[in-house]
Amino acid sequence: MPPIRIPRKSNTIDPPVHPFDTAHGVDTSGLIPAGDLLTGHPNDDHVTAYYGVAPSILRTLVDDWQATKPPHPINKYTFIDFGAGKGRAMLVASELPFRQIIGIELNPTLADIAQTNLDHWVASHASDPTAPRLAPIRLLEQDALTFDFPKTPCIAFLFHPFEAPVLKLLLRRIETQFANRPGTLDLLYVNAECANVLDRHPAFTRLFFGPVAMSTEDHAADLAAIAAQKEYGSTGDEECAIYRYTGRSTQP
Ligand SMILES: C[S@@+](CC[C@H](N)C(=O)[O-])C[C@H]1O[C@@H](n2cnc3c(N)ncnc32)[C@H](O)[C@@H]1O
Repeated sequence: MPPIRIPRKSNTIDPPVHPFDTAHGVDTSGLIPAGDLLTGHPNDDHVTAYYGVAPSILRTLVDDWQATKPPHPINKYTFIDFGAGKGRAMLVASELPFRQIIGIELNPTLADIAQTNLDHWVASHASDPTAPRLAPIRLLEQDALTFDFPKTPCIAFLFHPFEAPVLKLLLRRIETQFANRPGTLDLLYVNAECANVLDRHPAFTRLFFGPVAMSTEDHAADLAAIAAQKEYGSTGDEECAIYRYTGRSTQP
């Protein structure tokens, strides 16, 4: 499948292609600033940018999460990517033994690209007898704050998709929907810029915070992708955090 690219101004040059895309025939590359992702939705004001997660970071973070001894086996969990972009995190997560993968993306152009990537990913895995088993995978084009969580244990995955105002409202929604089932939602946060919001929140318990290193391949791709973006840098790792929704204490 030829890579599909988000329409850009004619005087821009193609972004470097991540080796994940080359290996799998998908288009998840590029760094798209928030100003190029406007949809007319009020939450546009809080969008950070589009950038696909480094596959090695996501895999390591899931290993780190497993080391926290979650209350349910991984195959019971729905992995939900809030701000799925072109779907890279969904694709990577779908090869892990989750029950299902759901992605939520506000921007319709990115959601279309993600759906094309998912269709190609599922078809190419189905036609390759050596490919790993895939978890069922579904992309929803909507605002993160309108998502209704499934009744399964859930992992909320965030690669710093939005700023604190939207994160706070998402946490409020989680509290409403998980009020009677503490311990069934964990939150994995890459580039945890708003970790202080979660640290101050009485219903979430921090299980991990620290840098997670990316592979040499991902670091090289990171350096190439941000070379033309002066406000970004790459240190070869991302500050990550893991939280568990434990509910508010009933003690006075
Ligand atoms: C940094 S990218 C992460 C991409 C993907 N999660 C990954 O790791 O490969 C953040 C994405 O969040 C999306 N986003 C931001 N605010 C959103 C909202 N309120 N609802 C849904 N998606 C949102 C942006 O459009 C962007 O595509």
